[in-house]
Amino acid sequence: MRKQIAAANWKMNLTLAEGTALMNEIVSNDITLNDKQAAVFAVPFPYLINNKSITDKAVNFFTAAQNCAAEKAGAYTGEVSMSMLESIGIEYVIIGHSERRDYYAETNKVLAKKVNLALENNLKAIFCCGEPLSIRDAAEQNSYIETQLKESLFHLSETQIKNFIIAYEPIWAIGTGLTASSQQVQDMHAHIRKVVANKYGQAIADSISILYGGSVKAANAAEIFSLPDVDGGLVGGASLVAKEFVAIIKSLKNS
Ligand code: PGA
Repeated sequence: MRKQIAAANWKMNLTLAEGTALMNEIVSNDITLNDKQAAVFAVPFPYLINNKSITDKAVNFFTAAQNCAAEKAGAYTGEVSMSMLESIGIEYVIIGHSERRDYYAETNKVLAKKVNLALENNLKAIFCCGEPLSIRDAAEQNSYIETQLKESLFHLSETQIKNFIIAYEPIWAIGTGLTASSQQVQDMHAHIRKVVANKYGQAIADSISILYGGSVKAANAAEIFSLPDVDGGLVGGASLVAKEFVAIIKSLKNS
């Protein structure tokens, strides 16, 4: 089902006390989400269990991991596996955030392994794609994104791809205060849906949520989320401020 999703990505921010206070403030707003909407909170690993105890109390609120290992289990000191996430009841995981790709050299091939492990362990994955500024300047963003999708996702069957959410995050708009224009966002989201449709058919493409990420905030969320091929957002900086993120959740399309 094509859901409208507001996903918070805390990255490496907040202490447990700060994170709990933020969550409690957000939840105290009694936001009503229907079953075609979701608020997802990707928090640091040590906070997952605590955070899940908070999101479990709010309807259509979920806790997510920001990353996971590309291996099943074994001698990988410091890594966290998908099966560990499943074992504590986590339902969502982010895969392939541009910061993971850039700082930890995660390639499309490594991400394909994570995609498979997410499936095996019944996690819904928010798969991130997005181009750097040099690619956008060279007007090569469409083929760049297509390659990211093909090399990490398109080995999946029609049934499997339905478990995935795609997040388009132009790297030049992440944490920079720069937002892609509405036209740029809609054009890329329509392109992504077309690429998915070419591979899996229109019905499946129409059922997949495509989130936008990159300096989404309370002031621009409603405009961005109203675009026809945008199904919500993946939000970094503004997700750390209760008022901001509450307004962002409330900007989700309602049908
Ligand atoms: P930002 O981050 O909202 O701070 O730009 C988005 C993201 O990296 O997911």
